[in-house]
Amino acid sequence: MEILLDTANLETIRKYNEIYDITGVTSNPTILSREKAEFFPLLLEIRDIIGDKQLHVQVTGSSSEEMLKEAETITEKLGKNTYIKVPVNEEGIKTIKILKSNGYKVTGTAIYMPQQAMLAASVGADYVAPYFNRMNNMNVDSTNAIEEMAWLFEHYHKDTKILAASFKNTQQIMSALLAGAHAVTASADLYTQMVTSPVIDSAIDGFAKDWSGLYGEKRIYEF
Ligand code: E4P
Repeated sequence: MEILLDTANLETIRKYNEIYDITGVTSNPTILSREKAEFFPLLLEIRDIIGDKQLHVQVTGSSSEEMLKEAETITEKLGKNTYIKVPVNEEGIKTIKILKSNGYKVTGTAIYMPQQAMLAASVGADYVAPYFNRMNNMNVDSTNAIEEMAWLFEHYHKDTKILAASFKNTQQIMSALLAGAHAVTASADLYTQMVTSPVIDSAIDGFAKDWSGLYGEKRIYEF
């Protein structure tokens, strides 16, 4: 199971890269636009923080020619473990096919349907990124869609992984993983929510109280 951060905020990436064993960072033009920074300087700072972990960067061109040129520049500047995110329509599939035959790492993105994921996998995409919350908003059963993708990949495209994205709550993340997603990318806030609860605080407080009742301020390494 892989956990990625869906943000381009440097402070957040720095903090959560230390806490969790993240596989990498994902971005898209919307996520980057929130940081109001220059494109490559920002991505280079992210690369600097995460070292050689995965960095997923989306192309913005609409033709295959443009996307291929963008992919070349992105990989040249950001290094080998950079995944080129390509939206999966027909031009995107053509682009993924060429990128894969030239040795690039590729994530098929803007996935709303299992058939899109299947076609992206058929031309060798390393990851496909189904948009969990956006599918829900369209009254699509996202869990079922991911289950179908997982089945298809298990039987036909063993090398393609499902990188579920577009989450608005922690339940969606768990549902995606239980449905067979190999990886999830989400905002740091959602990962924080997963380990934040009054009952957790109360358990920790209880242990602290019992400890200090017996040993005061003394710590284990002081015995
Ligand atoms: C992944 O990087 C996706 O682009 C992202 O999770 C989409 O999220 P959104 O639906 O919140 O825009």
